[in-house]
Amino acid sequence: MPNAEPSPGVLLTGASQGIGKAISFALARSKHFVVGVSRTEPKELADPAQCAESGYLSWKPLDLSNGASVAQFAASLEATAIRALVLCAVDYGEGGRHPAVTISVQEWQRIIATNCIGHCLLVSLLLPKLLRNPPGIIVNVSSDVAVLPSPGRAAYAASKAGLHAMLRAVAEEHSAECLRVYQLIPTFQLVTQGMRRRRPPNFDFSSYGDPAIIAEVVQRILSSSENAIAPGAYLVRRDGALEVFPEITNI
Ligand SMILES: NC(=O)c1ccc[n+]([C@@H]2O[C@H](COP(=O)([O-])OP(=O)(O)OC[C@H]3O[C@@H](n4cnc5c(N)ncnc54)[C@H](OP(=O)(O)O)[C@@H]3O)[C@@H](O)[C@H]2O)c1
Repeated sequence: MPNAEPSPGVLLTGASQGIGKAISFALARSKHFVVGVSRTEPKELADPAQCAESGYLSWKPLDLSNGASVAQFAASLEATAIRALVLCAVDYGEGGRHPAVTISVQEWQRIIATNCIGHCLLVSLLLPKLLRNPPGIIVNVSSDVAVLPSPGRAAYAASKAGLHAMLRAVAEEHSAECLRVYQLIPTFQLVTQGMRRRRPPNFDFSSYGDPAIIAEVVQRILSSSENAIAPGAYLVRRDGALEVFPEITNI
């Protein structure tokens, strides 16, 4: 199995569980070289000999909430060619929904530092690398909270809206020949460890979707020929269909 220096690969955040893990394994199965980052290692990679995807999938530790670590990590990738960034890491905050007045200073700082600043830094530091392998691709697993009011989730919403807005600015700074930015807004909820932690013990997840749905969409985006899927924001339907999300472009 190939493990030698690969063609330009994919860097993915949120690799240890949930949607990020599903995407990284799906991409590795379709022979994309993936470097996954998170604070904890995906358990399957602890013994690479037992992991069918390990030839295409590697993992590195990164705490996105620490700006200095993000900068150090980006510098450590100097010799690694990257053609795509897939952003899935998230800190959902404490417990279930709670009003903005109950959010502590620490919770605000951690959520904004992880979801927004950490990702913004990573994107800006790795942009030159993406642009060296045109078209560089950024896929952000965004959220309806980035574009709709979300009572009880003010910090999470602010962090997701911040990253969403940053990526719109970055997309406008480059032609689609150089950089293609995709923001995916799932229209349904998905069963992930993060979601499970925020629901009561006997919660019925039967109406929730499988992260494999998002993994298949990302795989389609990264595998498609130049103009098959135009860059932009998309609602992701339950059947994996993409529907253009018409963002406001002028007032
Ligand atoms: N699940 C849904 O229904 C749903 C719906 C719409 C959008 N989304 C979006 O989908 C994405 C993934 O959500 P999910 O439900 O799969 O999340 P999840 O199960 O909670 O997984 C979150 C991932 O983020 C990583 N992470 C958390 N804090 C980090 C930090 N400080 N530094 C580095 N990595 C960190 C975690 O790894 P470590 O803990 O090992 O660091 C983990 O791999 C998010 O962007 C979310 O907004 C999810």
